[in-house]
Amino acid sequence: MIFKIHLCIFVLLLNGFLQVTKGAPSNVYLDPVKQGRDVILIVIPGAYIRGEAYRPLCEELQRQSSLRLHVALTTDYVANLPNPGEAVIAINNALAEFQRRGLDESTPLFLSGHSLGGAVIEQYIFENADKISGVLLWASYFSETKLEDIPVPLMHLSGSIDGQVTVTDMTREFEQLMELHTRDQEMVYRLPVVISENVNHAQFASGPMPLRVRREDIPAEIPSEEAYEKLAKVCSDFILVHTPNLNDAESKEQAKFDVKTAVAETNSFLQPIFEARGMEEKRKIRSYKYSEWLNTAQNLVANISDESQDRILTQSLMYDYEEDLSESVPSIVTDSSQRVVITARGILRPATGDKRSSREIAAKLKTQEVISTYLSAEFGSTVDCRAINENCLVIAMDLASKETVDRYKDRGRQMSFADDMEVLSIPEWDQTTLSYSETASTMTVRSSIYRSPMEPYISGESGVQYCNLLSPYRAIEWLYVLSLKPYNG
Ligand SMILES: *[C@@H]1O[C@H](CO)[C@@H](O)[C@H](O)[C@H]1NC(C)=O
Repeated sequence: MIFKIHLCIFVLLLNGFLQVTKGAPSNVYLDPVKQGRDVILIVIPGAYIRGEAYRPLCEELQRQSSLRLHVALTTDYVANLPNPGEAVIAINNALAEFQRRGLDESTPLFLSGHSLGGAVIEQYIFENADKISGVLLWASYFSETKLEDIPVPLMHLSGSIDGQVTVTDMTREFEQLMELHTRDQEMVYRLPVVISENVNHAQFASGPMPLRVRREDIPAEIPSEEAYEKLAKVCSDFILVHTPNLNDAESKEQAKFDVKTAVAETNSFLQPIFEARGMEEKRKIRSYKYSEWLNTAQNLVANISDESQDRILTQSLMYDYEEDLSESVPSIVTDSSQRVVITARGILRPATGDKRSSREIAAKLKTQEVISTYLSAEFGSTVDCRAINENCLVIAMDLASKETVDRYKDRGRQMSFADDMEVLSIPEWDQTTLSYSETASTMTVRSSIYRSPMEPYISGESGVQYCNLLSPYRAIEWLYVLSLKPYNG
């Protein structure tokens, strides 16, 4: 019986396999336009995009490269959806064809995948690392693989206004590169992560885009020809750096310099995003997690005059579990050196869908009224939750590049803030989250607020202000990415 089932499955698999080979993928070849060293580039397209769509970028690459670049654009996947099985067939067909055309087996081989096309060749890359000189991931990344485990030179290249593989996605790869770079300076050449400014997801390809891209991608800002030029330049440098046994040492040095410069520019580009993300939550070494933004929020509520600042210490404690937050209260004590120590409590509520930043920081703060009983100092006016959130956007705009702020003001859905929704009990507040309501042109953010009066005989829940805080990371992700994506109702 079991055997029969196995046989059945086997026949099914075989059938599937035959069907795949029958509708086999095919390749479009772009003949080299230069003399010089032979190099092969095989391209795997994105989901529902045909291989031919990469012709303009690859022709530009052939023009810019000093190498004799032979290109195969793989295409005709079943349902136009690249998959690992067919990609291997397409790659092998291309290699056989190049041999037939007189290239020997030792010709340097580069692979490129756009979007899904990158993911489908991951296994091939691991299994054929010795055959591959380099890989170019175009707006693509391996979601489960660490950068340091990648067995070949590999470049991540994406656009700064890509609405699908976003700059916030690329922070993960970039951080790993920085980490590797501290150990080995060669890593910027081996595993560069490059963001090309003002390029979107579609601009690696050409022609009409599939529905998913149209719904997700940020509208183009520069003509595609300009995008191809920028992208081809970095690709050409990377390929040159990893083409073995070149005799033209000088141009290779220049290409290395250019790759390194592109990585350095990406580093500056990402700094505001890293900074805003760092404000969400950090872990003290071998200790608890805190949030810089929660500390700031508490200080805004306290609004103590500058002269008295050194008499209070604001800190925060970030929890992993909702139960821990709901059982906690913010605390205020006077320490042995007569300093007032306030500990705010909070938790990150995770991102969903296409976002990388936390949905909110649920925050438990002490009211100014309570603080003022611990400390005779001058206090300014206190703030509600809305004002803290408004402040968060201001800070994100200060961090963001001028170009990003201009683009947001010009074309982004503007973030605005509604008055806090007052709730009357803690259990009720526990159920609330920061509300985001979006229209084609605006995004309205609204917090709930729970405030308790000061009751001298009840310590914990006396004089508290609970808020749903906008995360600085979300605010910056809004400016760089989310506000610019098409509004899909
Ligand atoms: C702090 O207090 C001063 C003086 O009342 C006020 O001008 C300022 O706006 C307050 N800060 C915030 C963040 O509300």
